[in-house]
Amino acid sequence: MKISFAETKLPISGYLVLLVGGDGELSTSAKSIDKATKGAVSRAIDARSFTGNKGESLTVYAPQGREKLNILLLGTGSGKKLDVLQAQEIGAHIYKALRGVPATSATVVVEAARGAKTKGAELASALAAGARLRDYSYDKFLTKAGSKPRPTGPDRLAFMVKGAAAARRSYNEFAAIADGVDFARDLVSEPSNIKSPKWMAAQCRKLTKLGVKVEVLGEAQMKKLGMGSLLAVGQGSVRESQMVIMRWNGGAKSAKTVSLIGKGVTFDTGGISIKPAGGMEDMIWDMGGAGTVIGAMHAIAGRKAKANVIGVVGLVENMPDGNAQRPGDIVTSMSGQTIEVINTDAEGRLVLADALWYTQKRFKPDVMIDFATLTGAIMVALGREYAGLYANDDALAEKIVGAGNAVGEKIWRMPLHEAFDKQINTPRADMKNVGPRFGGSITAAQFLQRFTNDVPWAHMDIAGVAWSDKELPLMEKGAAGFAVRAMDQFVRENYEN
Ligand code: BES
Ligand code: MN
Ligand code: ZN
Repeated sequence: MKISFAETKLPISGYLVLLVGGDGELSTSAKSIDKATKGAVSRAIDARSFTGNKGESLTVYAPQGREKLNILLLGTGSGKKLDVLQAQEIGAHIYKALRGVPATSATVVVEAARGAKTKGAELASALAAGARLRDYSYDKFLTKAGSKPRPTGPDRLAFMVKGAAAARRSYNEFAAIADGVDFARDLVSEPSNIKSPKWMAAQCRKLTKLGVKVEVLGEAQMKKLGMGSLLAVGQGSVRESQMVIMRWNGGAKSAKTVSLIGKGVTFDTGGISIKPAGGMEDMIWDMGGAGTVIGAMHAIAGRKAKANVIGVVGLVENMPDGNAQRPGDIVTSMSGQTIEVINTDAEGRLVLADALWYTQKRFKPDVMIDFATLTGAIMVALGREYAGLYANDDALAEKIVGAGNAVGEKIWRMPLHEAFDKQINTPRADMKNVGPRFGGSITAAQFLQRFTNDVPWAHMDIAGVAWSDKELPLMEKGAAGFAVRAMDQFVRENYEN
């Protein structure tokens, strides 16, 4: 979809989108269209008792005398509540309402009802952003031969706004972030017969064209580095494990370094502690943490952020096999700490243990944030709405939650405590990879903390939010690209001058 901004005169042909406030009051442009159509707009509003509630829509086709004009009325709800995030959702509603209509282009008249909180260029850019985010579907495997064509959105969406240049500038920056979100969504959606660790590494290499330095470690190099924990997870797979290091140096040499670390299990069968068959197909998105990191690097580099950001992803496939690790195995991590593998399905933490240790050791970052579809337990705690956040640093946790709030990604802080840390002690090794049944997301986080070497660190368990089973305001069901926007925002708010 092509998005444009212009300060043109009100067109009276084509597909026109008019915003209607929560009180049903028409804007000046809507009134003038009503007049030009001899009251067709107000008649339709009365006939349908259209109130202008948020997302409510009503189409007036070919009013008499203006047969070449179609009007889509879109409710914004209360103008007082119309902040940037609400406006993004309205933009998504516009996109959806235009899906499947015969027109391939439409003009949105950016004029909110009186007293609206967001208006002008800011409103236009937010509407466009919402439409852009909603314009994603994973359909590369839908063939003409096998599936009915799905209704698609408009090819072109024009926004008519006073201050078009400012709107364009602001939207262009957003578009770079949305590219990162979509890149993450593509990676997360890819089926695992294609999505191997090496395939993922190849996707990372694509970031080179944005100016990101990309390095790939194979199994031999990781073995040399002593990454016995990560490698044990991949040893049952015929596909070689990989670690990818991405570096974006957009800031001054002396500027702080943010590092983002991701769990990239390209398929999680559970290994020898094999998962039940029902729902196992969900495990194609067990690389969602890596997806977040790669998508965030894409966004940050794409908008040329003046910050230094490192992304590290551990890519493995967890398979049962004659060569797979067994429950009861004891592995030695890069940190030197030994781990008794009680359950081979608690593999994400084994991957992150070495990825975290490697990151802090090599880069001495000012902050480390890891992302992982780590536990089913976080879904029991927070449902499919909130990501769980753990941190050894209160200020860092606050900044991350704040960045999430700013972009509309819900993040909830969870506790760490020595009492949970003790629960992963074992007499046979320095630690075991699972704790008791209760508090499973917390003991997983405690496990990771043992590999942070006291660097300011946060861990986000995104098992509940990396994928949505239902349509959300800004997306269809499927991969969310969760936390790409939050991380871009986090960097913008705290690490750019
Ligand atoms: N990848 C899973 C967690 C998961 C489950 C993510 C459902 C998304 C949806 C993870 O590797 C796992 O299997 N965790 C186990 C840990 C347990 C064995 C301690 C879990 O949560 O059951
Ligand atoms: Mn698992
Ligand atoms: Zn997993």
